[in-house]
Amino acid sequence: MRIMVTGGLGFIGSQMVRWILEQVPDVDILNVDALTYAGNPANVEEYAHDARYRWVQASIADRAQLEPWFADQAVDAVINFAAESHVDRSIQSGAPFVVTNVLGTQVLLELARQYHVPRFLHVSTDEVYGSLGPTGQFRETSPLEPNSPYAASKAAADMVVLAASRTYQQDVVITRCSNNYGPYQFPEKLIPLFVTNGLEGRPWPLYGDGRNVRDWLHVSDHVRAIWDVLTRGKSGQIYNIGGHTEKSNWEIAEDLRAILGLPASVVTMVSDRLGHDRRYAMDAQKITKELGWEPRIPWQQGIRDTVAWYQNHEDWWRPVKSGAYREYYRQQYGEGNPDSGVRNS
Ligand code: NAD
Ligand code: DAU
Repeated sequence: MRIMVTGGLGFIGSQMVRWILEQVPDVDILNVDALTYAGNPANVEEYAHDARYRWVQASIADRAQLEPWFADQAVDAVINFAAESHVDRSIQSGAPFVVTNVLGTQVLLELARQYHVPRFLHVSTDEVYGSLGPTGQFRETSPLEPNSPYAASKAAADMVVLAASRTYQQDVVITRCSNNYGPYQFPEKLIPLFVTNGLEGRPWPLYGDGRNVRDWLHVSDHVRAIWDVLTRGKSGQIYNIGGHTEKSNWEIAEDLRAILGLPASVVTMVSDRLGHDRRYAMDAQKITKELGWEPRIPWQQGIRDTVAWYQNHEDWWRPVKSGAYREYYRQQYGEGNPDSGVRNS
């Protein structure tokens, strides 16, 4: 079986590549990744010379670059992770999000259809549903009410995927997952930013009142769910994936402070993210009932292991923070404060 994984040099895509190569016999992987700031070949370096693995540097939005890989290889399934994934970046500039997340998904779908790829799994997000108040959960039937430019581009991509199912009966499935944490996450996202800042003696910028709530899932539980949907999910269906672990950003900071042994003063309240969604919560009964999937890694274990991973892998995150990441923060937040992530205004 040949699987095309897109975005396989990123946080979740690389976990998927490693998981498949460890768990699935007689498989090979074509990893299509453009190597943006968020992609890192080190994430899959143990497989760089494995005959079952090949990385193709190409954009999913570039049909001419991609088509030979569909034409020359019999692809059995596409798993589309490739995306611009960071909400704060989308608030600065939404255009790259539309190009990769919407156009890229459309280009991939068309090629998959043209070359008769039997199944296309699109990796989406709970953010397409918008924001919840203190109660309630998102179901697969909840309306799409995205708020950030990132979420809007992901919702548009979901529509494009569903249209291919309805118009052409193309075999597609969509997964919508809550916030992931774990190793190899780019240190612009909350947990790796706080952990690595903590290890560097830098402050933790907490947006707004710090009471926004996310539902957290370990990345290894997410990729196992994706595999279950890829291999056993029903064509044309959407599957929510969640961790049953709702936490405010304050609670996350408290848990991380306890593990790292840091004082309360490490937390620095900063101005809020524009249009900051208040709360996400997933009803993931469908994937449990239909496919038997449930999260396995409890938060307390997963977060301790994750912190330990960053403590033991400075060789991974220090170069990342000293390169693209620092430049990003210089551009977004000004020359005076490139490292802390604290907004100047
Ligand atoms: P990431 O930013 O860590 O990785 C994205 C990867 O996509 C990078 O390797 C990058 O080089 C690649 N890429 C970007 N543009 C590309 C293009 N045009 N062509 C080919 N490759 C390109 O992202 P992530 O956090 O691993 O998220 C992966 C997917 O999962 C995304 O679709 C995201 O929307 C979704 N998702 C993420 C989370 C989360 O908590 N991180 C939760 C739910 C869903
Ligand atoms: O819910 C799934 C989504 O989770 C994915 O679709 C996105 O790709 C992924 O980036 C993530 O989006 P969030 O915006 O929820 O993640 P982020 O880590 O950026 O922020 C988590 C929360 O922490 C959010 O409420 C904003 C807050 N935050 C974030 C950063 C980076 C802070 O308070 N301070 C920070 O410095």
